[in-house]
Amino acid sequence: MKSLVVANWKMNPGTRREAKQLFAATKKAADSSPHVSVVVAPPSIFLRELKSAYSGKKIAFAAQDGRAEPTGAHTGEVSLAQSKDAGAQYAVIGHAERRAAGESDEEIGKRVAAALALKLTPIVCVGESKRDQSGSHFDVVRMQLRAALLSVEPPQLARCIIAYEPVWSIGAERAMNPRDMHEMAIFIRKTTVDFKGEGGMHVKILYGGSIDDTNAADMLKNGDVHGFLVGRASEEARKLEALLRAIEDK
Ligand code: PGA
Repeated sequence: MKSLVVANWKMNPGTRREAKQLFAATKKAADSSPHVSVVVAPPSIFLRELKSAYSGKKIAFAAQDGRAEPTGAHTGEVSLAQSKDAGAQYAVIGHAERRAAGESDEEIGKRVAAALALKLTPIVCVGESKRDQSGSHFDVVRMQLRAALLSVEPPQLARCIIAYEPVWSIGAERAMNPRDMHEMAIFIRKTTVDFKGEGGMHVKILYGGSIDDTNAADMLKNGDVHGFLVGRASEEARKLEALLRAIEDK
């Protein structure tokens, strides 16, 4: 099965010209990686132009977030429907940086439902801020999953992707240990089965947080994940090429 790499550019790069350059390099790296599917999540201001100029099939586009309402009095915001219209097929929802900016579990649940209704594939981000010996991270992930999947009908689960991103590993020096990811992947599947039935067994799981060419292969082999949500290693051409090569060589 192909691995999935979601390139979350966050609020980068700074100009349209650089965005086109980064996309060209991403396209080149993706084209020489037959075992990897690539989704690019650019800032929404670059989405339509990158998508319109791209005639290939290898790369799909994602919104980095989006409001559930299609239109309305929400100054400064972009709706999921607008991103869909601009060419997105996926939507990252509930990223830790959006949660930190005040997006609630309830709001995330609405956005997941809206994405599915628009036939966008939601990439639902969950993950605890801190981890200690008490095991409370499992409770946090369980609550986040419950809220995010609240309105998801069991048959829609096949169209959902869960991205587990422990907040302490995002933008950090080291990724999580693959054995711990494996344990979390089992927990996520079991919890999804508890909430939504057997379909939860097959939900696609990504890992995110400090993934690069040095740790990706080990995480794919031992972490029980389908791929990655990647920040920094997707924002520079050289790092993205190295990451895709590492996955390809696995
Ligand atoms: P990072 O970010 O790869 O730079 O740690 C991951 C993310 O926020 O999705």
